Amino acid sequence: MGVAVVTGANRGLGAEWVHQLLESGWEVYAGYRSEPGRLSTFENSKLTIHQLDVQSNDSVDAFANQAPERIDLLVNNAGVADGRWRNLNEIDDGWALEVIDINALGPVRVVKALYGKMSHDSLTNVAMISSLMASIDDCHMGRSYAYRASKTALNMFTVAMKKEAIEDNISFVILHPGWVKTDMGGDRAPVEIPDSVSGMRQVLTTRTLENTGQFVQFDGEILPW
Ligand SMILES: NC(=O)c1ccc[n+]([C@@H]2O[C@H](COP(=O)([O-])OP(=O)(O)OC[C@H]3O[C@@H](n4cnc5c(N)ncnc54)[C@H](OP(=O)(O)O)[C@@H]3O)[C@@H](O)[C@H]2O)c1
Repeated sequence: MGVAVVTGANRGLGAEWVHQLLESGWEVYAGYRSEPGRLSTFENSKLTIHQLDVQSNDSVDAFANQAPERIDLLVNNAGVADGRWRNLNEIDDGWALEVIDINALGPVRVVKALYGKMSHDSLTNVAMISSLMASIDDCHMGRSYAYRASKTALNMFTVAMKKEAIEDNISFVILHPGWVKTDMGGDRAPVEIPDSVSGMRQVLTTRTLENTGQFVQFDGEILPW
């Protein structure tokens, strides 16, 4: 076990990542945007929490400066849905740009800020929490414009970054957590939070520098771009 960093960790999938990693003996450095939420219920000396808004470079830099000097796993989990509009006529430029800023650029800001601490002798895994809704091949229903575009952009940022990162012993994986019962996924979602996270953690055990940049579902299925 080593040191893991998790963003958007106060609720939903992020909080469960923290829970499971702590249970497995990891040291965890977790970011929350406004309230610590579920993080304040974990009584574990291996957990450190810090404020993090992935939209703000100042916040990301402050978070990275306080992070442990050596990081072995980054879970770029923070994200938002685009529930403020439903069809083409209702696209709101301001909100669309905000969704793209948080979901696509936010994780890149975090990777950049932590890069030096992730580059060391042994392999570091970076999990980019994307979505099947990023898939151009799988876009049968349309809608959710900004969310889809933001996650597709995240996937491309990741595939582009993986090339440079191979030299520095950093492997990326783009993960679809499934449709999960969180505030974002809603009550009708078929996948329970613990099952999604344990599945994604299993995928991480298969990561190498050779398979960096793959788009993988929580149950291990490779997804179409
Ligand atoms: N649930 C699903 O079915 C599903 C499916 C596919 C992909 N995903 C992806 O999985 C990830 C986690 O989703 P979830 O279902 O756990 O959603 P969630 O319950 O809505 O949690 C989202 C988390 O992201 C944080 N966040 C949002 N904007 C942020 C910002 N600017 N800076 C830092 N943190 C921010 C939230 O913090 P606050 O509490 O402060 O808002 C919250 O902790 C997301 O990237 C999402 O797109 C989810």
